[in-house]
Amino acid sequence: MEETIYQRVDNYLSKTFSLEDSILKETESSIVQNGMPEHSVSANQGQFLYLLAKMCNAKNIIEVGTLGGYSTIWLGRAIKGGGTVKSIEIERGFAEVARRNIEKAGLSDCVEIITGNALDILDTMNLNGEPVDLFFMDADKPNYINYFEWALKHARAGSLIIADNVIRDGKVLDEKSTDEKVLGVRAYNEMLAQNDKVISSVLQQVGVKEYDGIAISLVK
Ligand SMILES: C[S@@+](CC[C@H](N)C(=O)[O-])C[C@H]1O[C@@H](n2cnc3c(N)ncnc32)[C@H](O)[C@@H]1O
Repeated sequence: MEETIYQRVDNYLSKTFSLEDSILKETESSIVQNGMPEHSVSANQGQFLYLLAKMCNAKNIIEVGTLGGYSTIWLGRAIKGGGTVKSIEIERGFAEVARRNIEKAGLSDCVEIITGNALDILDTMNLNGEPVDLFFMDADKPNYINYFEWALKHARAGSLIIADNVIRDGKVLDEKSTDEKVLGVRAYNEMLAQNDKVISSVLQQVGVKEYDGIAISLVK
């Protein structure tokens, strides 16, 4: 199939900024080789997460939904030398692939991949009294509001709470949708719009991945 203009521009930006080194390319390959879903963020989206982590001076990062660790590597590189990333993945096999990729990236000292259902893990997580500076949710959409509530409870003023895939190829417009993912992100966007504890912006995104979007919330 011919590449769209959005995909060509995404590739142009990724190449111009030399976003992907061999570690990131090998991480992507490991996802394909292990028959895992190709649902990682793109290189440009990874760089954007990296930038956001730097902008909020993140030391403690929590990610829900690791897959093969592609976005985790971007986040780990953002805090390298001064912080930790805890990334939660429900699929044991995916978590093992991610751990190997994190090791190859030289990030095992600051990145922990935790296997389990995210809400259960978060419930018992010990943060040693430190706030979460950046929370990135990229997993089961019906639980997005639950993840947000947990993140808000453990945030500080200036923390970022980020939710991926909140546009879903425009399906977010469908008021009659019965798709639990669409219902999950519609409820999430509507909750954000009403929540006065955060300032939020939802960005539509196009590129090498599907047409989708990301919600970014700054804790007041
Ligand atoms: C979109 S992928 C994550 C992609 C990854 N953040 C990246 O960009 O490289 C979503 C992942 O969330 C995991 N997941 C789904 N439900 C989960 C849950 N309840 N707890 C933890 N992980 C979950 C899936 O197994 C899948 O690997």
